[in-house]
Amino acid sequence: ETPYPENEAILDYAPGSEARRKLKEALTELAAKRIEIPLIIGGQRITTDDMGQVVMPHDHGHVLADYHKASAREVRQAIDAALDARKTWQSMRWEERCAIFLKAAELLAQTYRYLINAGSMLSTSKNVFQAEIDAACELIDFLRFNVFFAEQIYREQPRSAPGTWNYVQHRPLEGFVFAVTPFNFTAIAGNLPTAPAIMGNSVVWKPASTSVYTPYLFMQILEEAGLPAGVINFIPGSGRTVGDICLKDRHLAGVHFTGSTAVFQQMWQTIGEHIETYTSYPRIVGETGGKDFVFVHRSADIQQVVTALVRGAFEYQGQKCSAASRAYVPRSLWKEIKAGLEREIGSLKIGAPQDFQNFVNAVIDRQAFAAITGFIDYASQSSSAEIIIGGGSDDRVGYFIEPTVIYTEDPHFKTMVEEIFGPVLTVYVYEDDAYRETLELCDRSSKYALTGAIFSRDRAAISLAMTALEHAAGNFYINDKPTGAVVGQQPFGGGRASGTNDKAGFYTNLLRWVSPRTVKETF
Ligand code: ALA
Repeated sequence: ETPYPENEAILDYAPGSEARRKLKEALTELAAKRIEIPLIIGGQRITTDDMGQVVMPHDHGHVLADYHKASAREVRQAIDAALDARKTWQSMRWEERCAIFLKAAELLAQTYRYLINAGSMLSTSKNVFQAEIDAACELIDFLRFNVFFAEQIYREQPRSAPGTWNYVQHRPLEGFVFAVTPFNFTAIAGNLPTAPAIMGNSVVWKPASTSVYTPYLFMQILEEAGLPAGVINFIPGSGRTVGDICLKDRHLAGVHFTGSTAVFQQMWQTIGEHIETYTSYPRIVGETGGKDFVFVHRSADIQQVVTALVRGAFEYQGQKCSAASRAYVPRSLWKEIKAGLEREIGSLKIGAPQDFQNFVNAVIDRQAFAAITGFIDYASQSSSAEIIIGGGSDDRVGYFIEPTVIYTEDPHFKTMVEEIFGPVLTVYVYEDDAYRETLELCDRSSKYALTGAIFSRDRAAISLAMTALEHAAGNFYINDKPTGAVVGQQPFGGGRASGTNDKAGFYTNLLRWVSPRTVKETF
């Protein structure tokens, strides 16, 4: 039996280290040039008249790249290229297909690690640690673990009675898979097209308009690793143009999506409206929003809670679907937790990621800045809430928002229930003896169910939370922050309005990209 792969070790970019020097070089190199990003369709570089810009969120006057956007014509070309590539791709042995993705993982780990990390830091405003755990480690892990799980799937076969032979052929889907990827993780952007491709599918990939840069770098790495032309077709563009054509195409075989709940529901509706036109029912796999909770019991370790809240809510400026964004704190602990938050948040430095001391960088773009500060303004004007930490923002150079903590006595307050996707944590303080009722309130008050955490040193209290919050999170953490799932260790995904919970980086996800044929032969 093949052993599990090891997770890629996180590189330490300590002052004076070689890693730090190389990363600094890559940062300087990428910041100094303005690249052009074409579409890649059937292995060809395609340019169009419609262009967009990649700017640094922390310095929005600085353009890193100009990218071409697909028009209807290129979207159709990409679908045709994917359908053409299917035949050769599917006729390859799975071992040969998988070898390409293992090679890409090696290239990322050994050759392009600094480049992709620098690209991620500059184009999406990640600090060095956030870039390393995402664009390097998690993406490498996705590739290696998906290959590992693919191998298990291909090898797992049914029993055969004497005189017969049964086997299952894990056929790729009949058509193309449409991958739509988010800005916040290069790893997720890389996983969504490659997971179906590992299982023999060809893909049309539309990256988020706010994150085209590292997907383009990764696309080139896949090509260098030997990915045949047309297996993954890279087409940045408007969601409406690309989505409309892909979703209504009768060859659509699957959707692999991470993004907003509203867009996912719209996509599902479009598919529903065209359900009679497809060859097979399209597989719809999506990971959408979250309103992730940290629930504190009075038996919790206070420092553990403070660390989890600061890291869970403010790493990558809270722009993780898994970010801690609502906390339930017992009155008896609130004074100390509040003091801990003030102390630790007060020491966080804000600024550009090129300065490695900055823990907090910018939010992704003007629209995100406006939406997040809108929530903060709403809270500051409300009589039901109080901003107790942060609240400031400045978009003159970059889209900077201070880590912000809102206190409310209303468990249904807007910022307690709506997804913000920014560095904003709302705290609701409950009476210690209302633990059970407040758990139920936590379960009921949000439509999302992605991640959540319980902090307690009392097993009975943990058990109560496990039961009351059974469906409130697909990833449930006991005494740890709700972010930072590691591929192969905490399969990731949630239910309710948070997605189809097919678990990224796990065999359950890969099974969605095959349509098995059972064969029985009698002798
Ligand atoms: N997988 C990412 C996390 O767990 C979203 O934070």
